[in-house]
Amino acid sequence: MTGVTLYLIQISAICAVSQGFLFDDQVCFESCSCRRGNIDCRNKNLVVLPSFYVTTGLANQLATSDRVLMIKLNDNHLKTIPSHAFTNLTATDARYFYFYLSDNQISEIDESAFAGFEGRVIQLFLTNNRLTSVPGVISRLTLPYLDISGNPLRTFGALADVSIYELHVELSSVTTWPQPLTSTRVNKTLYIDGYNSETLDGFIESEQLVSLHISETKLVDLSYLSCNATNVSMLSEIYFRNNEKLDVSSLHLCNGSLNIRRLSIRGAHLPSVPSSLRMWPELVNLDLSNNSITALTDENFKGLSQLEELYISQNPINSISLDAFATNVKLNSVHFQQTALATFPLALTRLVSSPLNLAFTYPMYVQCECDVLTQLAQINGTRTLGRVYCITQSSVDVLEAFDKILPKCH
Ligand SMILES: *[C@@H]1O[C@H](CO)[C@@H](O)[C@H](O)[C@H]1NC(C)=O
Ligand SMILES: *[C@@H]1O[C@H](CO)[C@@H](O)[C@H](O)[C@H]1NC(C)=O
Ligand SMILES: *[C@@H]1O[C@H](CO)[C@@H](O)[C@H](O)[C@H]1NC(C)=O
Ligand SMILES: *[C@@H]1O[C@H](CO)[C@@H](O)[C@H](O)[C@H]1NC(C)=O
Ligand SMILES: *[C@@H]1O[C@H](CO)[C@@H](O)[C@H](O)[C@H]1NC(C)=O
Ligand SMILES: *[C@@H]1O[C@H](CO)[C@@H](O)[C@H](O)[C@H]1NC(C)=O
Ligand SMILES: *[C@@H]1O[C@H](CO)[C@@H](O)[C@H](O)[C@H]1NC(C)=O
Repeated sequence: MTGVTLYLIQISAICAVSQGFLFDDQVCFESCSCRRGNIDCRNKNLVVLPSFYVTTGLANQLATSDRVLMIKLNDNHLKTIPSHAFTNLTATDARYFYFYLSDNQISEIDESAFAGFEGRVIQLFLTNNRLTSVPGVISRLTLPYLDISGNPLRTFGALADVSIYELHVELSSVTTWPQPLTSTRVNKTLYIDGYNSETLDGFIESEQLVSLHISETKLVDLSYLSCNATNVSMLSEIYFRNNEKLDVSSLHLCNGSLNIRRLSIRGAHLPSVPSSLRMWPELVNLDLSNNSITALTDENFKGLSQLEELYISQNPINSISLDAFATNVKLNSVHFQQTALATFPLALTRLVSSPLNLAFTYPMYVQCECDVLTQLAQINGTRTLGRVYCITQSSVDVLEAFDKILPKCH
């Protein structure tokens, strides 16, 4: 785990410092281009893979001090990845390989496609292909990262007992939790797309899981997470996107060990702020954007004393009660773009944190410069506001606005 993290940090450092000495791109493997750490064959109408025969000269040209090699094959017409397809690439001195194979028509990956990669670390991007099975080859690789979303997956045997750092998986072709996935250990982040069932009826081996993303599913009942999942004590971030029937209160049905600090529920048609949120007083970050919330009441965020950031954009909110944030003593960032508010919410003038970061949309302030600033002037410590964003015009630097615009308002 540490190895992976370190290595990601190294890449960005090296990209930043070595730009000056990069070789020019050179044509390689027929239609691809090669330079340090990079084989780029994107969008070349490839139907079969190049041979990837690496001469000593080319190996030198591809080498980087962090031993990373990115093989970009996305946006082609590849259908199968045959036996030994990438074996010739082991003639490079790379140790970390990123294979970008998204947006092809791949329906089959041979078990020996990565023969020779023992002891090397692979990240595999296979989004938007035609795989119906999780390729068996992955159970034999050191694979910290796998993205197989956007595939009509029906069989998942290859993921049984696999340990992986970050997994993106598509479940739109199944209606019950795939048995092999119950023994998949995900150390950091799990993405589930399109589960075709209303009830979560299984989960991964979750002891190490930190971050969970669930998108575009039919899920309603998630009580399994708090009632049945083996151990979710590390899980601190949940992101829901466009699960239109989600019942948030189902997460609180059992007093499990869920201890969520970052929660995002977007696109769930929520008519109001779920009252069950108050069962997570440790929330630091809350995103309820793109729902159907019309009002924020004094009760909605009561007791969320750790809350620092709130996103309520893209809701038809037309009122925010004056004491809506009275107990949110750490709240310092509120994003309320595209609401139905007609005037600047005075509840925000009562926030005690500073500096404040507010993001809102201009149209609710017909005379942005005067109306809003006059109200902002009532906030204690307004001058510590960094900037005020007025979306349809350039953002306003607060000190400048106060000094130059406000005096002309009367
Ligand atoms: C690897 O390179 C050799 C030499 O060009 C070639 O004969 C072989 O077919 C290549 N392997 C694959 C799987 O393309
Ligand atoms: C995940 O965690 C387990 C236990 O700490 C460890 O053995 C395994 O190597 C980790 N896997 C990855 C991909 O980081
Ligand atoms: C749950 O997992 C955490 C982190 O791995 C561990 O410290 C804790 O002992 C586990 N709890 C139970 C009840 O197994
Ligand atoms: C989950 O736990 C609940 C309550 O503890 C129990 O009634 C239910 O049968 C369990 N469901 C599954 C699928 O194990
Ligand atoms: C969960 O915990 C809360 C507070 O400790 C308690 O009021 C509630 O009755 C508990 N619910 C269940 C189902 O155990
Ligand atoms: C907002 O939510 C709806 C309903 O889930 C979804 O269809 C739409 O794509 C979302 N909009 C954005 C910008 O995410
Ligand atoms: C601003 O601060 C002053 C002095 O600390 C206090 O008397 C006043 O009530 C505060 N105003 C608001 C709107 O919080």
